[in-house]
Amino acid sequence: MKEKIILGIETSCDETSAAVLKGDTLLSNVISSQIDIHRRFGGVVPEIASRNHLTAILPVIDEALNKAGVGRSDLDAIAVTYGAGLVGALLVGVSAAKALAYSLNIPLHAVNHIEAHIAANYISTPDLKPPFLAVVASGGHTGVCRVDGHNKFTMLSSTTDDAIGEAFDKVARALGLKYPGGPEIDKLAKMGEPNIKFVERKHKTELSYSGLKTAVVNYLHTMEQRGVSPVTEDVCASFQQTAVDMLVDVATSTIKKSGIKTVVAAGGVSANSYLRSKLKSECDTLGVTVYFPPMSLCTDNAAMVAMRGKHMIDGGVPAAGLDLNAKSYLKIEGN
Ligand code: KG4
Ligand code: ZN
Repeated sequence: MKEKIILGIETSCDETSAAVLKGDTLLSNVISSQIDIHRRFGGVVPEIASRNHLTAILPVIDEALNKAGVGRSDLDAIAVTYGAGLVGALLVGVSAAKALAYSLNIPLHAVNHIEAHIAANYISTPDLKPPFLAVVASGGHTGVCRVDGHNKFTMLSSTTDDAIGEAFDKVARALGLKYPGGPEIDKLAKMGEPNIKFVERKHKTELSYSGLKTAVVNYLHTMEQRGVSPVTEDVCASFQQTAVDMLVDVATSTIKKSGIKTVVAAGGVSANSYLRSKLKSECDTLGVTVYFPPMSLCTDNAAMVAMRGKHMIDGGVPAAGLDLNAKSYLKIEGN
């Protein structure tokens, strides 16, 4: 059977990305980041993100096709992220994907962004096969997802409030660090001591970031009122350890209960060096194999969207219609 050529498109937040996948082989993955544009505002400004996606989307798609040595008429299908994310940003990718699919008369596949983050692991670990557990650590989702087939996802545990990436970004902002805060905290934590206890963790099975985030902000206010400068590196190390341990504890108990022997990490926060080492050592202790995507596939990219699209096509998941709309919130629940 001829290997399908799929164009992936990703515009859910502040990265405009397009990628070409042929069969299981990634031919190109172009990412145009808006980080420098949003940095001076301390976070992503949705309206500015949409406008920048609009100017970047067609050049990024053309560059991905050129790098892959593929023409538009060679494409067999298009896969686009339609949620979760910023609606205005998503709409740019969805509209471009619809127009291309319509003009080329090829199917359009609507991809769930978090399922795509999980699918990034099939690119970095080609032998990976379900069943496995995915430890999801992103800007909008946090929890453990059971993957029983390429198109079968079940969330086993989720945060009850904020996502871990959101907490990293808010704490970083309160510390006056540059956007995005996650990598900054990761860097500074290496030079600090985790000697501040922000929250009392009574239940190791509980996943919640709102209280931790507020506790760090309150700590910083109290220090300011007392005229004491906080040791930023220690705040980073202490927050990071608590935030990551919380997720790894939940992951560990979920792994034990499930009896599954393969684990992957997914989402932007899986780039965190402490999370990678902590989850690896816990999995080693349990005799479980854990895979991490390389840094370039941890944060937003269209390669993971194309791979997710391939599995939807192979599994017979129906294509989307031209009435496809962007969704700001989307559950992980399989298709
Ligand atoms: O998974 P992602 O693309 O977000 C969603 O899809 O929702 O990841 C973005 C998040 C941001 O919160 C960013 O600060 C965080 O990933 N991040 C990190 C690191 N690199 C990116 N957090 C902690 N440590 C890092 N090294
Ligand atoms: Zn993402």
